[in-house]
Amino acid sequence: MIKAQRGTKDILPDEILTWQDIQKKAQELFQRANYKEIRTPVFEATELFKRGVGDSTDIVNKEMYTFSVGNNENSITLRPENTAGVVRSYIEHGMERLSPPVKLWYMGPMFRYERPQAGRQRQFHQIGLELFGIKEPAADAEVIMIATEFLKAMGLYDLTVSLNSLGCPNCRNKYKEEIKNALKPYLDKLCDDCKVRFEKNPLRMLDCKNEECKIIFEKEEIKEVILKDFICDECKNHFEELKNYLNEINIKYEIDKMLVRGLDYYTRTVFEVKSNSLGSQNAILGGGRYDGLVEMLGGKPTPAVGFALGVERLCSLINKIEDKKLDYFVVSTMPDIALKTVFELRKKGFSAEFDMQKRKFAKQLEKASKIANKAVIIGEDEIKGGYYTVKDLTTGVQAREEKI
Ligand code: HAM
Repeated sequence: MIKAQRGTKDILPDEILTWQDIQKKAQELFQRANYKEIRTPVFEATELFKRGVGDSTDIVNKEMYTFSVGNNENSITLRPENTAGVVRSYIEHGMERLSPPVKLWYMGPMFRYERPQAGRQRQFHQIGLELFGIKEPAADAEVIMIATEFLKAMGLYDLTVSLNSLGCPNCRNKYKEEIKNALKPYLDKLCDDCKVRFEKNPLRMLDCKNEECKIIFEKEEIKEVILKDFICDECKNHFEELKNYLNEINIKYEIDKMLVRGLDYYTRTVFEVKSNSLGSQNAILGGGRYDGLVEMLGGKPTPAVGFALGVERLCSLINKIEDKKLDYFVVSTMPDIALKTVFELRKKGFSAEFDMQKRKFAKQLEKASKIANKAVIIGEDEIKGGYYTVKDLTTGVQAREEKI
């Protein structure tokens, strides 16, 4: 028997109401904040992610579904995330000419070749938004506010917002050098990934999950360098202003100096939101500012900030929405009449079902009481008399109706 691929999941009819509710709430909330929906293709040129997400990241190095089809086709990749794709579209469609801020949101499947485990799939879904054209920290505050408002709208209140500033390329380069100098004596003790990160992007080492690396980062002399206030005055002011805004709107956050995020495009603000209710280690949502990405992908220098949320992770934290019963079940051994009646009921906006197999009345009523609130009974007497018998399946009360 052919089964769904490892790390992929069918979203079955009994889960779909929850998914639809998530999408509806996101759409309502984002629209009220003036974000417009964008739908970009699920595959893009591989180059987009190599340049955008960064070729020192795990996502690009280990997790991309990359292939080429046909003889002369270029290499393409199933999107592992959607910020790079939205930026590509923003540049390609001249959205740089629109008056800022340009606000976009999306929902769709993403693909990462990861070892499947709880909260980690190979095909998963993200809801995200991206705000272009504003460098001021009010934009970061709005994005974080919408992220937390959305989670609250989904019934999640026990949240931790982790926040950090990665500085701008200027201050960060100096910091990177200091981290490299501090870690140089331990280089041969670091894991193979960190050896590569040491050369390509030393900050990514701080995110390493390897226990031996973590022990090294905990050493006094290393920790001192890591925890040092390295950001320049401009970045510091930006971060302070953001924190003030968050205080103003009562968003609680904790500063996490180790928060570097797994994508290379971030500048200044980075954040993640975790839910405390299930003690889950996994972030439901992550994002940050990426002021260099639009230019790096061929556009004009454009500041930007955004976040994305994992829909499967969100689903695991919220109550499932149960299916409602139908308004009517038409009970009749004459499918032509039943068919006509459900047609009329549905046209009037009711949900209605009927029996297609001419089964006995008792069987049909048994089914009706399981799936509908009311039964419309049409037998010989009803046809002769030109009326309907409507039975309330909760109370058992039956009434004669001329019209339905
Ligand atoms: P990310 O942190 O890689 O950021 O992913 C965002 C969210 O997607 C995660 O917090 C998690 O809930 C979900 N997620 C990621 N990988 C998986 C997986 N394998 N299985 C299930 N869920 C997963 C980004 O993707 C950035 N593009 C976010 C962003 C937008 N930054 C700025 N704008």
